[in-house]
Amino acid sequence: MQIFAHRGFSSQYPENTMTAFRKALEAGADGIELDARLTQDGKIIIMHDASVDRTTNGKGKVRDLTFAEILGLDAGVKKGLVFEGERIPVLEQVFDELGGKLLINVELCNYDEGDNRMLANQTVELIEKYKLVDSVIVSSFRFNNLVYVKDKNPNISCGLLAKQGLLGAFARSFLNHSVSVDALHPFYTDTNFSLIRREQQCGRKVRAWTVNDPKDIRRLYDLGADAIFTDDPLNSREFYASEKLLE
Ligand code: G3P
Repeated sequence: MQIFAHRGFSSQYPENTMTAFRKALEAGADGIELDARLTQDGKIIIMHDASVDRTTNGKGKVRDLTFAEILGLDAGVKKGLVFEGERIPVLEQVFDELGGKLLINVELCNYDEGDNRMLANQTVELIEKYKLVDSVIVSSFRFNNLVYVKDKNPNISCGLLAKQGLLGAFARSFLNHSVSVDALHPFYTDTNFSLIRREQQCGRKVRAWTVNDPKDIRRLYDLGADAIFTDDPLNSREFYASEKLLE
């Protein structure tokens, strides 16, 4: 069962920053998960929330800020003074430095925008430019994004995210099979044996989010999940070693 560092090694380092991604690699994660959004002037940056307020010293929505304005923000100081000066990364920077060194799960997060292909198209172009078709996974709660990715390059692996509980019921149901994706990414408490077996029998991988407690890691491992997303990849690696679990 592979380990993906959720927003990088986000339990200890500022989420979705180069430091969090580098530390995840050092910790032995198989992959990182990160969140992609477009700035007002069309640059793909890495930020989970629609606004920069929670994780930076700035204010406002990513889609209303220019790339230059985003570059001026501090994405580390809210996690701790020691991280002061950390910048919001751009997707290209992540691909350039870490591409091919571990798996990269790019979540397309244009949820506060109307349905359009811009983020999906630009992400595919970057994946192709850096020759990362075999090591990047694109995921989204909005399945149109995955349709756009597959439309542009069917060889890129796509994972449909399912929200927690009832909100994710459609994505977890058989109906989602009208969308041609390679994996389902359900919330970990919604992940059970029959769901995993059904998806795997259809050739899809199942990657559960976001799993931090060792007993939950053990449960998903025993169920046969393909991967977990975790905030603490080091802890997960140590747990694997202590329990002699295989990747
Ligand atoms: O990508 C898996 C899961 O982490 C999605 O959650 O919180 O990053 O949007 P989030």
